[in-house]
Amino acid sequence: MPPADRERLIELTNHAFGGHDTGFDKMTPAEAHSEILFYFYELIAEREENPGTDLVSTLLADGRLSTEDVLINCDNVLIGGNETTRHAITGLFHICQRFPEVLGALRADPGLLDQAVEEVVRWTSPAMHVLRVATEDCEIGGHEFTKGAPVVAWLSAANRDARRFTQPHRYQHDRHPNRHLGFGNGPHHCLGAALARIELRELLRQLSQEARAVSLESEPQWMRSNLVQGYSGLPVSIDWR
Ligand code: HEM
Repeated sequence: MPPADRERLIELTNHAFGGHDTGFDKMTPAEAHSEILFYFYELIAEREENPGTDLVSTLLADGRLSTEDVLINCDNVLIGGNETTRHAITGLFHICQRFPEVLGALRADPGLLDQAVEEVVRWTSPAMHVLRVATEDCEIGGHEFTKGAPVVAWLSAANRDARRFTQPHRYQHDRHPNRHLGFGNGPHHCLGAALARIELRELLRQLSQEARAVSLESEPQWMRSNLVQGYSGLPVSIDWR
């Protein structure tokens, strides 16, 4: 999307999916989501007229997707990319404050960065749950599900499962194995996982090189949402090297 529109779209996404934001007293979250869809509807019409090398034009040029499919994919990429990585990034600063040994350990051994990134995704778990519909009667973990029943998997709970992760509430930068579900699983596994990993890795690398410590200016403010696990505020100060 054109750079001039980005701030507005980020604000709308925050409002639509991040719980009620008091800055938007005239618009409900559902209306904010409609605004996003209207925006993409117009952008798609624009790109049909003047195709470029961007994602929207590429999806249209593929020819296999209906306009509605392209619209829903635009919405999905925007939400998937905005409402998750930001909270993992914020959580990364929280981790550096809660577990002060991490910065020094990564500075001493940057070879551990990839493992440290996986652990950021597990510890922060920004995507709280995924919804599926049972395709047949089945039993999982002693619970019966009938065909057609909606089933929610709580990823943030699974990522703290003590049967799977020792000391699950601890951030261990070198945790191994670390088969977390932070990016989901199966055919809908996160499309942007590689990008999110690059962003988190680069931030961790730079921070471990350039910062000595992170401290909190005030208590973290958590978002009121059962969709996204994240922060509405995390004021920190950084002790630069
Ligand atoms: C730390 C960051 C991220 C986390 C924790 C995360 C988490 C997830 C999860 C759990 C799913 C699976 C949803 C399901 O199975 O129903 C998913 C799907 C998806 N994610 Fe991410 N995501 C992140 C970053 C991104 C980024 C940066 C993008 C885009 C640039 C993105 C785009 C998507 C899309 C389009 C899907 C849907 C894939 C499909 O249905 O086939 N995500 N993500």
